[in-house]
Amino acid sequence: MTIISPSILSADFANLERDIKRVEKAGADWLHIDVMDGHFVPNITIGVPVVKSIKKIASVPLDVHLMIENPEKYIEPFAEAGADILTFHLEAANDVLKTIELIKSFNIKAGMSIKPKTSADKILPYIKHLDLVLVMTVEPGFGGQKFMPDCAEKISVIKQYAPPFIQVDGGINDKTAKICTRLGANSLVAGNYIYKSADIKTAVESLR
Ligand code: DX5
Ligand code: ZN
Repeated sequence: MTIISPSILSADFANLERDIKRVEKAGADWLHIDVMDGHFVPNITIGVPVVKSIKKIASVPLDVHLMIENPEKYIEPFAEAGADILTFHLEAANDVLKTIELIKSFNIKAGMSIKPKTSADKILPYIKHLDLVLVMTVEPGFGGQKFMPDCAEKISVIKQYAPPFIQVDGGINDKTAKICTRLGANSLVAGNYIYKSADIKTAVESLR
């Protein structure tokens, strides 16, 4: 089964509850929440209070993608706000293993992500400790960018180490999803493809 995790970065923030219910109704398995700090990536988005509010109205697990420096400082607040999966970036962590253990201490899933220029080799030593590996298929920071096919190749390398979830994020649509699932991805993040489509339900189903 492929897990579909719509990115609410492409939702209308003035109508966030409505847009969350829309994707839940369309069959979303998780809700992907992009947290950006204006340092690790050149954009600022959602923080702890918003995650806390979303938790009150969401009925699917919150898949929180931390694109922030010093992620270890913010694991506890995001876990307490209601994150069910917390994914941080390998490039941003000061102590990778400590950060993974910290996430797990809250009894939630631990994920780690790599940017397009980071090779798959860098993440291999940590896979046995992780619930999820997130392969970025665009430079993190913004929705609506073009899928980078070279990044998807990393999926086959990671797959050999069999993490429970291999997730892809960036430029995912019905065509690029197919490339990624064939290589072994079992969790797809999609922002623009889902939210900008005329029929959200069909978009979710076409990804699956
Ligand atoms: C980008 C974010 C993505 C983004 C995906 O840095 O991590 O989750 O919302 O958006 P699309 O699917 O439009 O590329
Ligand atoms: Zn993301």
